Parts: sequence; C-alpha cells; structure tokens
Amino acid sequence: MTTTIRWEQDRTGVVTLVIDDPDQSANTMNQAFRDSLAQVTDRLEAEKDTVRGVIITSAKKTFFAGGDLRDLIRVTPETAQELFDGGMAIKRNLRRIETLGKPVVAALNGAALGGGYEIALACHHRIALDAPGSKIGCPEVTLGLLPGGGGVVRTVRLLGIADALLKVLLQGTQYNPRRALENGLVDDVATTQEEMLARARAFIEANPESQQPWDKPGYRIPGGTPANPKFAANLPAFPANLRKQTNGAPYPAPRNILAAAVEGSQVDFETAQVIEARYFVELAAGQTSKNMIQAFFFDLQAVNSGANRPKGIEPRQVRKVAVLGAGMMGAGIAYSCARAGIDVVLKDVTPEAAAKGKGYSEKLCAKAVSRGRTTQEKADELLARITPTADPADLAGCDAVIEAVFENPELKHKVFQEIQHLVEPDALLCSNTSTLPITALAEGVERQSDFIGLHFFSPVDKMPLVEIIKGERTGEEALARAFDLVRQIKKTPIVVNDSRGFFTSRVIGHFINEGVAMVGEGIEPASVEQAAAQAGYPAKVLSLMDELTLTLPRKIRNESKRAVEEAGGTWPTHPAEAVIDRMVDEFDRPGRSGGAGFYDYDESGKRAGLWPGLREHFTREGTEIPFKDMQERMLFSEALDTVRLLEEGVLTSVADANIGSIFGIGFPGWTGGVLQYINGYDNGLSGFVARARELADRYGDRFLPPALLVEKAEKGERFKDA
Ligand code: NAI
Repeated sequence: MTTTIRWEQDRTGVVTLVIDDPDQSANTMNQAFRDSLAQVTDRLEAEKDTVRGVIITSAKKTFFAGGDLRDLIRVTPETAQELFDGGMAIKRNLRRIETLGKPVVAALNGAALGGGYEIALACHHRIALDAPGSKIGCPEVTLGLLPGGGGVVRTVRLLGIADALLKVLLQGTQYNPRRALENGLVDDVATTQEEMLARARAFIEANPESQQPWDKPGYRIPGGTPANPKFAANLPAFPANLRKQTNGAPYPAPRNILAAAVEGSQVDFETAQVIEARYFVELAAGQTSKNMIQAFFFDLQAVNSGANRPKGIEPRQVRKVAVLGAGMMGAGIAYSCARAGIDVVLKDVTPEAAAKGKGYSEKLCAKAVSRGRTTQEKADELLARITPTADPADLAGCDAVIEAVFENPELKHKVFQEIQHLVEPDALLCSNTSTLPITALAEGVERQSDFIGLHFFSPVDKMPLVEIIKGERTGEEALARAFDLVRQIKKTPIVVNDSRGFFTSRVIGHFINEGVAMVGEGIEPASVEQAAAQAGYPAKVLSLMDELTLTLPRKIRNESKRAVEEAGGTWPTHPAEAVIDRMVDEFDRPGRSGGAGFYDYDESGKRAGLWPGLREHFTREGTEIPFKDMQERMLFSEALDTVRLLEEGVLTSVADANIGSIFGIGFPGWTGGVLQYINGYDNGLSGFVARARELADRYGDRFLPPALLVEKAEKGERFKDA
C-alpha cells in the first residue's frame, strides 16, 4: 500500500481515507495519487462487507490542490493519449467509490479547488470546514482548462446546466465555505474539525445505503436539458454570453466547457465522462492553457515569492505611511494601505482636499458593508487609520512616504524637500510618478539611496500590480523595503530599472499609438476598436486613449523628445503623433475628461459612440488591411518594445514582464504575457521574427525585430528566467 492515501478504519467499520502526499506540501493528482486511489478502491470493493461508510479528508493544510500543473504544462499532442488514459482511470475509480453502495462523505478540511472539489463531487455528502482562506470551486477556466475529473459531468447533474456553467464552470469562481453552501456546492459547513468529522459520521449513520441523486431511478437534471423544448429555447443565449465573456478573443476553454456541459447532459453518465475527457485533453494539449499556466501559476509565484527581492535583508513592515496628494491616486493608495492595517496620514494642500481624498475610502467602505463583504466595525477601524491633513507637522513618525502629487518634477522636488526632515530619519521615500525618471527625482532629496519609484495603477483598490522602479542611486535596502511594503498591502510587485516611462507606461504607449496610427491611415475606427477587443485587450484602444487623455501622451512625448535630442539622438516620429495633434489642435477633442475625444460623451460623461467626424476627416476607402494585421500590429508593437527593454536592462526578469503586462496594462491574458506571447507564437521565436519582418515591410521600421530577439531565435532559445 502506498502512503498517499492512508486507510484508517475504526471499530464501527467507518473507513477514513486520509490523503497525505508524502513528497509534497499539497496533494495533487500525480501518479502516486492515481496509484493509491486505485489501491484503496480495490480494497473498498474487496472488504465491502466490513465497511460501513467512507470519509475522505486530508492531512494537509488544504484538502487537495488539483491537477499537477508541472505535468499539465508539459503535455503535447503526442502525450495527450496518456493524459486521457490517466484521467479516465481517476474518473473510473471515483465512480467505483461513488457507486459502491456505501455512504461516502467529503470532509473538506481546507481549500478544495479543481481536482479537490471534483473528489468532493463524487461523494454523497460534502461538509466544509469554515477555515480562514478556505476556497471551494473549479477555477480551471482561469488556466485555460476545464475540470477533467468529472467536474463538468457532476456539477451539471447537481446544479443543472445553467447554474453549473454560470456559478461554477465559466467564471471559475472560488467560494468561501459559507458562500459555497449558499450556492449549493457543499451540503454543510462545520466550524471545527471535530464537528466536521462528527457530522460526517452522523450522515453515514443516517444513510447506510447512499446513492447519488443522478443514480436514482427517474432522475432528471435540474432545470432540464437541451432535449426539452423549453430549455432549448434558452440555449442560444449561452454562446452569446460566452462571446460577451471573452469578447471574441481566442479563449478556447469556455467554448469547450459549454460543449462538454451541453453534450454531456444528453447522454448517460459514462459517455458524459468520456466527452468531458476529450474536451479536457484538447485544452491541455493546446498552447493557450500552457500560456495561462505559465503566467498565472509559475510566473506569478516567482514574482510574489521575491525572486527579485535582494537577498539577506531582514523583512520590514511599515507602521505609518505618509501619502502626499489626496487626488485620484493618493486616495486609492491611502485606502489600500489602511485596508492592510497601516496607519495613513493623507496630506493635501488644503484640509478640504485631504478630507475629500479620505471620502473615497468612506465610499468604498460603505459599499463593502452594504454588500456584506466586511462588517461595520472593520470598516470603522479602517477609516480610523486614515488621518486627512494639510499640516506637514502631522507627518511625524511616518516610516514610509508615498508621493502622488501632480506629475511635475519641480513640484515633486518641492514636496519632498518640505517633508524629508519631518518623517522618521530612515523613512522609505517613494514616488508614484507614472513616467518621470526616478534618478532625477531622487536628486531632490538628501537620502537618495532611500528613494524609489512605486508605480500604482488606477483604480488602486482593484489593480493588483505595483511597478517598483530602482533609480541609479536607490539602495538594495530600499528595494527590499519597497518590495515588502507592496506585499504588505497584498499587491504583486514587479521590479524594473529606471527609464522614462519604465516598463508599463512605455509599452502601453505603443499599443495606443498603433491603434491611433491606423485611424490616421484611413482605416475605419470601429474596425480598429473591434480588432483590439478580439485580440483580447480588456479596453478598446481608442476608448483607452480617451480615458488617458490625448494631451498627456503629447506632453510626455514632447518631454521625451527634448530629452532624446538634448542627448544628441534623433526622435523616431510615430505616425500616431500627427493624428493626436490634429485631434487636439484642430478639433479640440482632448479626451474624455475634456468632454470629447475619439468618442462623443453625454453630459454625465458616458460614452455616446465614436465621433462621426473621425470618418469624415480620417477614414478613406481602400485602406482596409487584414484583421489579423490590425491585431498583430498592436500585440507586436508591445512585444517588440518589451524585448528592447530587456536589451536596455530596464527589465531584468521574464516573469516580471509577463505578469506586469497582464496585470498592469491589460495585455491579453490568453497569451500568458508579453514575452510568453513571443514564445508561444507559431514556430516560436523564429516564426515571430519572420512575422515582425513582414509587418515592418508593410507598416514601418518600428516592427523590425531587435537584435536580442533575432539572436535568441537563431539559437533556438525562448524567453525564460534562469
Ligand atoms: P490628481 O490630480 O488626481 O491628484 C493630485 C493631488 O495632489 C491633488 O489632490 C492636489 O491637490 C495634490 N497636490 C498638489 N500639490 C500638492 C502639495 N504640495 N502637497 C500635497 N498635495 C498636493 O492626480 P493623480 O491622477 O492622482 O496622479 C498623481 C500622481 O500619480 C502623478 O504623478 C501621476 O503621474 C501618477 N499616476 C497617475 C495614474 C493615473 O492613472 N492617474 C497612474 C499611476 C500614476
């Protein structure tokens, strides 16, 4: 008997199967588990007469972690059959336990996600322990996969097709135990381990011959199946919802989930299991799931675990932070810090402006209380941590400063000079500038080694990323402390070296410029927007330009141009520049905040369609280009500049580039991030280089592949961290 699943039988005949992988900190569906499952299943059948019932639980902190992603990311079309067979073996064994004729209870002592929840689904009764951080659900879709261990087949039979799709499968929602109970994913929630096991025994006692509802005669799937005309009438809504969810972008998982659910609902259980396995294997062997697993699992782990944090420096926690500037960003930063338990002094030029900044937290707290996401008491505690002020003296005792005043270097210098002797003598000094080089900003303070860039994204309370920018004189200690602060407020830190626009602001600029340039070439603006959406960008390109305002990139461009020319270089004029100049100077359309941009806006500031003048002044017949070219011009422009940033040493980590591009600037998630996009392109790097040259021929030298890319392609390498 292997030790992955321990068999513990008490005197009453109840068998507790304790899953406890001896080689890993979490249980996964690896080979050892598969073998163990087969063995305990054989034994249950052989010793059936002495078995009164079964409890499945785990000895780890989490119940079960799901498929082993290290195995899944390596699946190729050639090894797909092996995956199919392994998956079917697990399914067959779970099915044998489910139909043994004995009551089987899942005692979920911790998180049961993916494969973990699928084991629970094969049990007749599911009890979850209300442990902190415990999550239940099928998040496979967020990795480009579907639950291939019977999860589609059983959720459809448990909840009905519509609820299974909308509540569990298509969004991959992770529920806490209480919400899992409300939504029918589990049957019971216990508050202690003892209580959970006692209730499991009570269930076994009360249900000596348990059967799944779907194995009882006359069972019908709740809500019906497509075979029922009433249900069939609603069916067309599913693909439409799906299109809405993915915006037409190339995410194959939702499509396969829908197909597995609908097709599987019309056949018997065993056939449905085979259908599910086929759709699962197709996803696992494809490129998108590999991209998403790489980004959302491996890269994210590398980034958050501190691969980029200097080693050997004691972790430090911030107790009291000064946030300078209570505008849009300052208000959001204050909230995020207070939420993490840090005291915040929120300073602006007038008490009113500071109070208005705190008002933002008041609004967010009220909303969270009304939605039941927090209690009034916790909200009050959070708000009590924020002290709005206009008095610099209130900054005494702050051990970190985050500056978020207007984007003006002189003002930023002045503000830091004013406060540098008021805060703690070793306080960490951070600027939230979105573009200004950190090295030059640092010249405004005495302790330049403690000065660092901490670039948040808007809206701060929702956006998970923070870009840490190391100036030339930033010390290792400051970098480690900035990293710790970002983790303390539960955000994801990427680290880059100093440069104008750093990584994120510079790269997103290429996306926008490419969209705007296409309008300038005479291409229909609605097609440009459609191309961005179908490429998988969360925001359409011209609408994003309007949000950021057209005058801002102009200002940044003029400053960058001056800097390049002062250094003796030539500024590579981008075709978007002329379009933006005309929009601002000739048509007075500076973007959303100015009430008019590429879009029209109504009085309340809501978008009211693309500005018809675009067609009149820019669009020309015969300028259409292939849709694929439109999409790839946007994707390639960002990817190519990311490679240049690696060449320049601004970026030093592939994981940071991938995570930063998805979480910070909306690079499409199906790609796995901006460098993984290059890795995963047809024929890898050499395919990408060939295509870049083609785009350069057609649309301009800005698409020429950088030397680093060509070199790596020639060596047959990929972008990968050491
Ligand atoms: P904002 O205009 O909303 O707020 C700036 C605030 O600074 C105002 O409340 C102003 O009264 C205050 N302020 C001006 N002088 C001050 C002084 N001497 N002392 C204290 N407060 C003073 O600007 P926003 O959008 O919040 O941007 C702030 C900074 O964050 C800028 O450097 C910007 O580039 C950067 N940033 C902006 C992002 C965005 O999406 N808006 C994203 C990331 C960074």
